[in-house]
Amino acid sequence: MSEPIRLIPYPQFLKPISGEFVWNKPNLNFDAPYFEEANFFTNHLPGLLSIEHDEERPCKICLVAEKPQSARSEAYQLKITPSEIMLTAASTAGMFYALQTLLQLIKSQSPKENTTIISLPCMEIIDQPRFSWRGFMLDEARHFFGKKTVKQILNWMAYLKLNTFHWHLTDDQGWRLESLKYPLLTENGAYRENSQTSGLLQKKTNNLPHGGYYSQADIREIVSYASERHINIVPEIEIPGHSLAALAAYPSFGCTGGPYQVTPFWGIHKEIYCPGKKGTIPFLEDILKETIDLFPGKYIHIGGDEAPKNRWKNCPDCQSLSNQLGLNRVNDLQTYLTNHFTQFLASHNRHTIGWNEILSPQLNPDTIVQYWVGKEKTLLQQIRAGRKTILSNYRAYYLDHGYLHSPLDFVYKYEPVSPDLEPEFHENILGIETPLWTEFVPNKARLDWQLFPRLFAIAETAWLMPEKKDNEFFKSRLKNFLPEFDQNNILFAPPETWEPPQWKRLWGWPSLLQAQTASVNETK
Ligand code: ACM
Ligand code: ZN
Repeated sequence: MSEPIRLIPYPQFLKPISGEFVWNKPNLNFDAPYFEEANFFTNHLPGLLSIEHDEERPCKICLVAEKPQSARSEAYQLKITPSEIMLTAASTAGMFYALQTLLQLIKSQSPKENTTIISLPCMEIIDQPRFSWRGFMLDEARHFFGKKTVKQILNWMAYLKLNTFHWHLTDDQGWRLESLKYPLLTENGAYRENSQTSGLLQKKTNNLPHGGYYSQADIREIVSYASERHINIVPEIEIPGHSLAALAAYPSFGCTGGPYQVTPFWGIHKEIYCPGKKGTIPFLEDILKETIDLFPGKYIHIGGDEAPKNRWKNCPDCQSLSNQLGLNRVNDLQTYLTNHFTQFLASHNRHTIGWNEILSPQLNPDTIVQYWVGKEKTLLQQIRAGRKTILSNYRAYYLDHGYLHSPLDFVYKYEPVSPDLEPEFHENILGIETPLWTEFVPNKARLDWQLFPRLFAIAETAWLMPEKKDNEFFKSRLKNFLPEFDQNNILFAPPETWEPPQWKRLWGWPSLLQAQTASVNETK
């Protein structure tokens, strides 16, 4: 059998044509709107093509702007014939994806002996994504990776046509975003003495201080780097829970007044922001204002998950606010906060997202929900009622889980949209996102292992219509990416770990309570 055409995500429509295009330093011409995409592409292939505007010379690679005709703005067409390569799109994003497809094809071919000449099989592709939200989330609060790693991730995301980088920048174990108004957030909140190394059932720690943060200049640099790759960044500022690092820096915003410490321990912590204290909401508004100034995208994530209300119940300030607002229960202060910040962000032209714990009958209909666990029936009712939703079911899409719990075939085959949801409501699903929480991801080697290759499976689900997906075909293409992983020093999980036998998968659930310790370098 001949090798499959090595593309992930696979296009919606691909028809092979006979013949091949011999790549011999062709010239590339582009219609004016695609100047940046053409440059980006050319920079990725140093010495392999020349870029020019010469109207006289017939182009070999032509970037053609067409009138928008498809409802989907990210659509493109790519036609490779023996004489030329035509890329057509109605938007810069569509052209960017056309070029990523071409780049994947070029990188799948080895040069003929002693030359740089490659040839591409001829084909015709008509393509557009299934979902408009194709996301990956990185938790840098539990472990800080820094600019180099983030840029590498953004490169792979672009290559896989993922367009949303959700950046989890604050949590109990660290605050990673410089604030000019509240410098202690990073001076104190970005560092901890040590880290939990045991699984969740024990509390063993190492003695290694850990920390780091992004300056505002770093953030601007990364936002611009992402934007060149047609990736939008969604920053997450956790409210009201997962906020110990902030409270360690500014204890007066907690119910008890502290003192608090940036914690080395994972899990759920009872110290959360006190909405009853006069300064807390203005403080959070200031932080969100600085966040908006740094991140030009339309969406801001305010967390909302795993916020225990024990402190609120025993806090006179929370009780007094709750009474003043006429709430039935002090717990309802969370919906009050979420609605408050939804309105605040809307007044700055931003949409608010929160994890599905924010769902309640009084929740603002405009607040977007990111679903990860639990109450699926409630979620479906909300989607039917018009709530915009992002799907990140932890069972399939939490990439911090090991391959025993989330084997490659399971991740690939998982269909994110419930069969119980009637088609007329599908438009309320913005798309899918795969989070990498990093409690047990202390370094780049572990990060690579968890992401590669499962990120490829999710990218294909985000792009390709479900009836066109095929796990065996996917894997036959995936295997031909392994040399590219090696060239880029990616310490991917090796193929023998991807799909463990059924009996080993029984260990999948209990394995979640453990630190993921399967040796990353075992096979390298
Ligand atoms: C979450 O996993 N706590 C959103
Ligand atoms: Zn309180």
